[in-house]
Amino acid sequence: MNRRQFVSKSLVAAGTALLPSRGSAAGIIPTPNRFADEIAPSEITEARFPKDFLWGLATASYQVEGAWNEDGKGESIWDRFAHTVGKVKGGATGDTACDQYHLYPQDIAMMKSLNQKSYRFSISWPRIQPTGVGEANQKGLDHYGRLVDALLEAGIRPFCTLYHWDLPQALEDRGGWPNRDLAGYFADYAGILAKSLGDRITVWAPFNMPWSFTYLGYGVGVFPPGRAKYDDFLKAAHTVNLAQGQAFRAIKAASSKATVGSAYGMAPAYPKTDSEADRAAADRYHAMNNVYFLETAINGRYPKAFVGEIPYKAMGFQPGDDRIMKVPLDWIGFHYYTRRIVSDASGASHPGSGGSFGTEIEDTSGGRDPYTQFSAVMPTEGPLTDAGLEIWPHGIYDLVTRISREYNHPIIEITESGCGYLDTPYEKNGGHVPDTRRIDFFRSELAELARAISDGANVRAFHAWSLLDNFEWADGYTERYGLTYVDYRDQKRTVKDSGLWYAKVAATNQLARFSSK
Ligand code: FCB
Repeated sequence: MNRRQFVSKSLVAAGTALLPSRGSAAGIIPTPNRFADEIAPSEITEARFPKDFLWGLATASYQVEGAWNEDGKGESIWDRFAHTVGKVKGGATGDTACDQYHLYPQDIAMMKSLNQKSYRFSISWPRIQPTGVGEANQKGLDHYGRLVDALLEAGIRPFCTLYHWDLPQALEDRGGWPNRDLAGYFADYAGILAKSLGDRITVWAPFNMPWSFTYLGYGVGVFPPGRAKYDDFLKAAHTVNLAQGQAFRAIKAASSKATVGSAYGMAPAYPKTDSEADRAAADRYHAMNNVYFLETAINGRYPKAFVGEIPYKAMGFQPGDDRIMKVPLDWIGFHYYTRRIVSDASGASHPGSGGSFGTEIEDTSGGRDPYTQFSAVMPTEGPLTDAGLEIWPHGIYDLVTRISREYNHPIIEITESGCGYLDTPYEKNGGHVPDTRRIDFFRSELAELARAISDGANVRAFHAWSLLDNFEWADGYTERYGLTYVDYRDQKRTVKDSGLWYAKVAATNQLARFSSK
């Protein structure tokens, strides 16, 4: 199913009630929904952030680095997937991507000129251990050492994600994440990194969006390795939970300065109706999609994501695993892009028909699977970005305040948020990229974030996705999330108007209107 079909399908599935009603029609919970245009201009201009708030940008190794086979790097599952005909739109690959492997000094200089204080990047595991086990590849370590030094030199905090989806192919050949041995291999890798870079990096997140890569890769097969068995997802997710705990300990053991948190993908879930069944379904969504890897860390147990018993056997859960998973994360990081409307699907036949939507996948009918038995759709009440995601600024307020409440007021980092728009440089405007829709997106979203902070949430950083337009996974180069435009023919970077605006936000902690002066 392509995007267009999915959008129209989810529109149908969401029901006409969702469309004209702006959330108030009969049967829909009257949550305090606020459209971007319902946020008063004064709320935006008066929004304030803490004095030492960290404004930052994010990327991921496979999406920006290129140099896919240089300096001893091994093959990753994304190399294999993108090199397989028919997997990525337009036959695109990350072979060159934004060539950040070579161009990082210029990218860091650009971030410095944009007043950035934090750069969230990821390390490519197969650069460090080409087959995922054994001796470290010194050239790989040296590369990241230089990157980190250059960041520190520019006054930018290096925020390191250990795994943003580029598993060494050799480990997939050993069974991939459903094989619990990977938890130990991952901890070894984490220890190597912390030993080599832990004198300079203090902020570590083991996994980017663990639900997404386990579910999309093993549960439904739209991401590598392209396997589609729900039990494989359950096993993969359990290994990742173990790996998170073991990596936490390995990092701490190697670096006394280390703080370890997370980079989870989250979407606030609203029940479709106020029925008890839909409310319970929305809670299962929250448990499965938002806190499945957080509850295990903080409380050492799986959250109530399932109808009925937790399927320990299918997961491969062994006695003592709760103690391995449980680690006191120093801070909690998560992304916000869009929201979900969730309904109970316990009466539906399974499996539901899934819709693939960038890094998002949802059921548009039936239930997602026999265990969680809900149906989740991305509504289309708010405007859609060019990448097809609904804009719902209020969602970040709900998410941040909920996580604050449920996890005893943790330090929070927003690890990603952004929007895909296809604006290009405009010659008549001196080559500027007038991406005003992106500026509007961030202004209203950040006003909602400021409100969550003034209501007491302890948010210390925000990372816009992304520093650069880049390889957008199975969508190849058809989406542009960057605050900087990349011309892939010659790698020329042009800071978009949103990037110039964001630089002012970073300098002033205020969400002023954009002016090119
Ligand atoms: C997030 C991913 C990131 C990028 C953005 C658009 O889900 O973490 O790599 O693809 O979506």
